[in-house]
Amino acid sequence: MDQKFETQSDYYQILRSQMLADADAVTDDKQLEVFRVKYLGRKGLISSLYEEIAQAPADQKPVMGKKVNDLRVEVTKIIEEKKGTLGQKDKIENRSSLDVTLPGVASSIGHQHILTQTVNDICGLFEKLGFVVQDGPEIETEFNNFAALNIPIEHPSRDAFDTFYLDCKDPSNPNRNLLLRSHTSPGQIHIMQKSKPPLAVVIPGKVYRPDAVDASHSFMFHQIEGLLVDKHVRFSDLKGLLTHFCKKFFSDDIKMRFRPHFFPFTEPSAEVDISCYICKGKGCSVCGRKGWLEIMGCGMVHPKVFEAVGYKKGEYTGLAFGMGVERIAMLKHGINDIRIFFENDSRFLKQF
Ligand code: PHE
Repeated sequence: MDQKFETQSDYYQILRSQMLADADAVTDDKQLEVFRVKYLGRKGLISSLYEEIAQAPADQKPVMGKKVNDLRVEVTKIIEEKKGTLGQKDKIENRSSLDVTLPGVASSIGHQHILTQTVNDICGLFEKLGFVVQDGPEIETEFNNFAALNIPIEHPSRDAFDTFYLDCKDPSNPNRNLLLRSHTSPGQIHIMQKSKPPLAVVIPGKVYRPDAVDASHSFMFHQIEGLLVDKHVRFSDLKGLLTHFCKKFFSDDIKMRFRPHFFPFTEPSAEVDISCYICKGKGCSVCGRKGWLEIMGCGMVHPKVFEAVGYKKGEYTGLAFGMGVERIAMLKHGINDIRIFFENDSRFLKQF
């Protein structure tokens, strides 16, 4: 046997203890690189051992190969571990150079948008009276947005609720397209189709109309629908309910006015005005010198609507109302341009 290989085992031992000592002495990234090159580099100690194996007799090769391999694995592992500990050390050293007495960067805390607050305040008042808050889809069928609400195709009142049509057929009626709801009233249809009276719900959400945008119009705004259906609901219940709501929401000393109006889905119908809480009814720029502010539409559910949802004729009566959230927030806070709600300007949003 070649002389050199008789001492091979000792050689590995010595090399390994040398390697461990070298590794111990490594204290930074530069030294680690020198260490790596010394052992694993192309001309490093371990590579030269592989060359020796190539020269060795065949029966020695497996034993030697294993030893060299073990050594290579050990060196690689040590390098990886060192990388980790040096990285940690680096971080700690950097941290100690941080001046912890410097003022930090305060992260700003957001809050609910004024429209969300208004929706919550309004719905909260109705919830106290036993109403349940419900959701309705923004994409609707023509049936729910119009026909079921007693707005036939050729009826001129459809113009008032004209909307955006989608390029998408209604699966339940392939001759018609789906649309974006132009009011929250189709929510009434969903609720009544799903459940039987007694019902008391408020349905807040976005609605869409192809209006040109200006200080008082937006193609998208929010409404809150209210619906109460039972056996003996009367117009006086509607008046009492909305008077209670307006006094709680605006102020106890406002006056109410129910002005006759027309909605296809309620009969009789009314528009609700409150006395201007700024000028107390005397007339000012907010109320356009009228002394009254229009705040919502309402009425008794039309029998045709009950028919459309399959309720038995004459069995129930109901009241419904619908209000614009932006309009109410504008009146309450003296905001004179609807566009500002949607501009995301924090100087405006921070005020509420
Ligand atoms: N949907 C009506 C509108 O958008 C409001 C309304 C709702 C009126 C319920 C009466 C009853 O103008």
